[in-house]
Amino acid sequence: MRGRWLSFAALALVLPACHRTPDGKLDGKATAQPKAFGAGLVEMGGGLQAASVGTVLDQPLVVQVNDAQGSPVKGALVTFRAAGETILTPSSGLTGDDGQLSVTCQLGSSAGRYQILAATTDKSGKSVTLRLEEIALGYQQNLGRQLSDRYCSRCHDPESSAERVSNYDNLTVKPHTFTDGAFLNSVSDTDLAAITTYGGAARSKSAEMPSYGGTLSKTDIEALVAYIRAVASPPYRARGLIYASE
Ligand code: HEC
Repeated sequence: MRGRWLSFAALALVLPACHRTPDGKLDGKATAQPKAFGAGLVEMGGGLQAASVGTVLDQPLVVQVNDAQGSPVKGALVTFRAAGETILTPSSGLTGDDGQLSVTCQLGSSAGRYQILAATTDKSGKSVTLRLEEIALGYQQNLGRQLSDRYCSRCHDPESSAERVSNYDNLTVKPHTFTDGAFLNSVSDTDLAAITTYGGAARSKSAEMPSYGGTLSKTDIEALVAYIRAVASPPYRARGLIYASE
């Protein structure tokens, strides 16, 4: 899973013109002109998603421009810059009635964290920026994600989904979500693999953590560890962030 050391140099992508009018229609103009200005830019959703390298993220990235009082501003221009070969569509546009702009994101082809920079300008022309991060999973990490969805998330993810009812609330000792880097970054690869292989009881932990040594191969368990490292927040060893240029 060891991600390649990715250089700080980043490639800002200039995309073909594909801008949206405030009502969301494509207008085909080279550059949208702002009709209003805000004072703040906030993330409404879509950050820290994990998906296979080169794929489009399930959820769009949604940002909102607010005025100084925190009310949404319609018609403000937001531009996105992404690192690496990440593609945002559209790469800029005007906020809608709800003050929001929603863009889809296709990840680059290297595994790692991709930084995305959203920017708008206030009345005085000063740039207001917001950083988002997305996680591109390599082959092994993605295998780990599939195994986690199948075997682990019903206990390790407190959220229920359409396909799966979470068992988290029924557990006496609460396991950590795999994104919980604050805790899991301090656990060694060896211990993560041992707890998964032999179960909680074998490592003086809750017996509600089953043993998977009989179900999963060593390769599977290594993939799970690689996945846990890839999705950790704060990042495991803070390496591999691909920065967007200012
Ligand atoms: C039936 C519920 C259940 C399932 C399914 C499950 N776990 Fe756990 N897991 C637990 C519980 C409960 C703990 C907490 C044990 C403790 O802290 O005493 C735990 C703890 C762990 C830990 C130690 C870190 C932590 O979260 O506290 C790891 C690593 C772990 N599980 C990995 C996995 C992996 C990998 C899978 C899937 C292959 C998995 N678990 C599936 C219940 C489960």
